Amino acid sequence: MKPNFRICTLLACLATAAALPLSAVANPILDGYRAAAKQDNAAFKDFSAAAGQKLYTTAGPNQLSCSSCHTDSPKNPGKHAKTNKVIEPLAPSANPKRFTDAAQVEKWFKRNCNDALARACTTQEKGDFMTYVLSVK
Ligand code: HEC
Repeated sequence: MKPNFRICTLLACLATAAALPLSAVANPILDGYRAAAKQDNAAFKDFSAAAGQKLYTTAGPNQLSCSSCHTDSPKNPGKHAKTNKVIEPLAPSANPKRFTDAAQVEKWFKRNCNDALARACTTQEKGDFMTYVLSVK
């Protein structure tokens, strides 16, 4: 839908934005995954925070889950399950630097999905995961 600038006065636009559900957090990296997911699957509707939360806590074949290092809440500082090194919080509500650098995000999805799940995450999983982590206030 193209924005209609004649009826969309600044105030009306702000009101519309404020009325969006909390889970609809704008993030260019998430938009990129959404576009890729649509290309992969014509029936794709949107990502799911509930599916992302499930992924966050699901242990893979090595008994590691995302929460093993990032703790039960993405708002908490984490600790590397093997090296004990401190990991800053994943949730942008606690750490605004998160999910701002696409190359960084891809690098860690690749490494961590392999560590936890022994495979790469799909675009759907990355989008679900981000939708969950971005929704944590
Ligand atoms: C073995 C420990 C470990 C596990 C398990 C783990 N992570 Fe991480 N994760 C890290 C470390 C270390 C970093 C990078 C350090 C930092 O950025 O503070 C990181 C950073 C990230 C980032 C980078 C975000 C950004 O914008 O900086 C993403 C995305 C991420 N992890 C996703 C996941 C997902 C998804 C899972 C589960 C499938 C997972 N992680 C499991 C250790 C882990």
